[in-house]
Amino acid sequence: MNILKSTSLAVLIFSTLNLFGQEKSKMDAFINELMGKMTVEEKIGQLNLVTGGEATTGSVVSSNVENNIKAGKIGGIFSMSSPEKIRKAQELAIKHSRLKIPIIFGMDVIHGYKTVFPIPLGLAATWDMPLIQQTARVAAVEAAADGINWTFSPMVDISRDARWGRISEGSGEDTYLSSRIAREMVIGYQGDDLGKYNTLMACVKHFALYGAAEAGRDYHTTDMSLHRMYNEYLPPYKAALDAGAMSVMTSFNDINGVPATANKWLLTDLLRKDWKFDGLVVTDYTAVNELIEHGLGDLQQVSALSLKAGVDMDMVGEGFLTTLKKSMDEGKVSLTEIDRACRYVLEAKYRLGLFEDPFRYCNEDRAKKEIGKAEHLRLAREAAGKSFVLLKNEGQVLPLKKQGTVAVIGPLANTGANMPGTWSVSADLQKTLSLVDGMKAALGNKVKIVSHLGANLTSDAKLQERSTMFGRTIPRDERPAETVIQEALEVSKGADVIVAALGESSEMSGESSSRTDLNIPDSQRKLLEALLKTGKPVVLVLFAGRPLTLTWEDEHVPAILNVWFGGTETGKAVADVLFGDVNPSGKLPATFPRNVGQLPIYYSQKNTGRPLGEGQWFQKFRSNYLDVANDPLYPFGYGLSYSKFDYGKLQLDKDKFAKGEEIRVSVELSNSGNFDGEEVVQLYVRDMVGSVTRPIKELKNFQKVFLKKGEKKKIEFVITEEDLRFYNQSLEFVSEPGAFKVFVGGNVRDVQEADFELMER
Ligand code: BGC
Repeated sequence: MNILKSTSLAVLIFSTLNLFGQEKSKMDAFINELMGKMTVEEKIGQLNLVTGGEATTGSVVSSNVENNIKAGKIGGIFSMSSPEKIRKAQELAIKHSRLKIPIIFGMDVIHGYKTVFPIPLGLAATWDMPLIQQTARVAAVEAAADGINWTFSPMVDISRDARWGRISEGSGEDTYLSSRIAREMVIGYQGDDLGKYNTLMACVKHFALYGAAEAGRDYHTTDMSLHRMYNEYLPPYKAALDAGAMSVMTSFNDINGVPATANKWLLTDLLRKDWKFDGLVVTDYTAVNELIEHGLGDLQQVSALSLKAGVDMDMVGEGFLTTLKKSMDEGKVSLTEIDRACRYVLEAKYRLGLFEDPFRYCNEDRAKKEIGKAEHLRLAREAAGKSFVLLKNEGQVLPLKKQGTVAVIGPLANTGANMPGTWSVSADLQKTLSLVDGMKAALGNKVKIVSHLGANLTSDAKLQERSTMFGRTIPRDERPAETVIQEALEVSKGADVIVAALGESSEMSGESSSRTDLNIPDSQRKLLEALLKTGKPVVLVLFAGRPLTLTWEDEHVPAILNVWFGGTETGKAVADVLFGDVNPSGKLPATFPRNVGQLPIYYSQKNTGRPLGEGQWFQKFRSNYLDVANDPLYPFGYGLSYSKFDYGKLQLDKDKFAKGEEIRVSVELSNSGNFDGEEVVQLYVRDMVGSVTRPIKELKNFQKVFLKKGEKKKIEFVITEEDLRFYNQSLEFVSEPGAFKVFVGGNVRDVQEADFELMER
């Protein structure tokens, strides 16, 4: 599938959401009539998005909300939930505002609503497209039952720098995988009809390039060539729009000298003119106001700049509300520009069916029935199990036998609040089971579980405080670290196996959670060393919102299961995998570096003029480091299984083809292990000679395949000329005839390769 080209299904969905023909004329007529009655102030009011009285996802608490609704000064509210509250707010608009224009209700429904699924990076590790779509569907059903009609998701920012805390919120480093996922998420949220009571309007974010922040520091500058943007960073946003996403959120960062929220090239030339986007553009939280700090002027100036650049709705900052009328009177913005923005807001409301029935999302019975229902929890458990990546399993320590005693030791063992992971603002933290309780619930009395804190999250109390915000506290033990470790060893004495529950707390990743040290915190490393010294088998169950640097652990710990943050059902899902009820199948959506100095790191790099020789890790005057190898600790696409998958010889049905034809690439996959299991077969391509330099490998397709033990299957991929296209120097999307290589394997490193040629016609 070509990521920048719509598939027929996406085209179909896009057209139903985008209202054509009669439906479109009906909407236009309705909105024309309504806008004909609106004052300029009322139009500007529609551009104002506020919080519903609590500061959930930032520091602003919007004031005077009730009166502003009545006065027609609010177009949307976010972070408000429950049919009761939303009905009350909607009633203020419908009964008391002059034109009775309904309010749109947004929320960060990022990886589930009350039923929380793995963090997006974890979901990406499933490489399971139907499953990912289903998780978004369930999130929409639950949130829409609770009064919400707009989600600020999917987040599709490519990130290749694990220092950036928000890598947890996206699908990782790869353009193709992220684009596929973006599409599934949008379809899951929006379905084929935004007007249904159980769908949400999707909002693709953060437009654009937010994940390329310099030095991995949040909100930092990005500066990027157009060539890289078009080929690597923009396709996932475009894929979400092709799937029909009806809103876009601007990003906080500067792009080549102009912050995204004031960037006319980005928001108008590219988004509206080239990509023909016909939905709503909203800013990120106070992003208009932040243009002042970026150095673009005062509030009046930056609000005008932002509107003129193409922003329709102002999140939280009220710059539009308080300055646009003045700017219009002074001739600095035009009524046409205000009208354009107002129209996009009203169209979103129209598409959501809010003019037809402003209360269609408010139904207490539905909320009771739909939220957290058993089948949603089953899906959450399945998704969590599939998201875990088995990084190491020396001597087949795993799976464990369901017998004897297991000691679960570490700061992540007994904290339910940290299981949902970052950006789970609607999670019921009190009700989420901890790892230990989840394991107990899954295992019953077949296995005895004992547990202990073992170590503080980090020895630095202040860092721990910053890393456990929003109710995600982890208790500290202020006694000397050695005393706490000794106590944990006592607890583990009778155990047959030790599960070390270590890593990051959930708020160590996510927004404003960039880190420069990606090792397991010192206090936990000491604990791990002590646990290993017992001589008992140790399994590291690693919690992480990003790729961590695990060089030491890889050398010393026999089994490592990376579980990200698995959501509501984490504990049970970890038990499923540790005890073999579920065979791990997760594959890394981001490269795991050896150390922080290797960052940014990603597999699809260019060759350079001085690449390292095959099998070398240092050569003088070659592109490398003196002190560490170029290759990562765990490559992109990597993940083990309890089973063994063997790849037969890579076959191509021909070695030359032309535009309009195709090449069939096949390989026989056999499960020669003792467990049924799933393997993700990955196909990469390299364009050997081109008018511009091309990556050494690019993912172009994959299949997630289930094989019973002993089973074999022929896996076939088709390559067409379209798959070989890229943006050339003039930003034309073309293929260039010549030599190519194709690679197939279970991760980007362990592949077989073959040559083929795209012929001139
Ligand atoms: C984040 C967005 C989020 C918004 C609203 C911002 O701080 O960057 O991702 O959607 O807040 O909560």
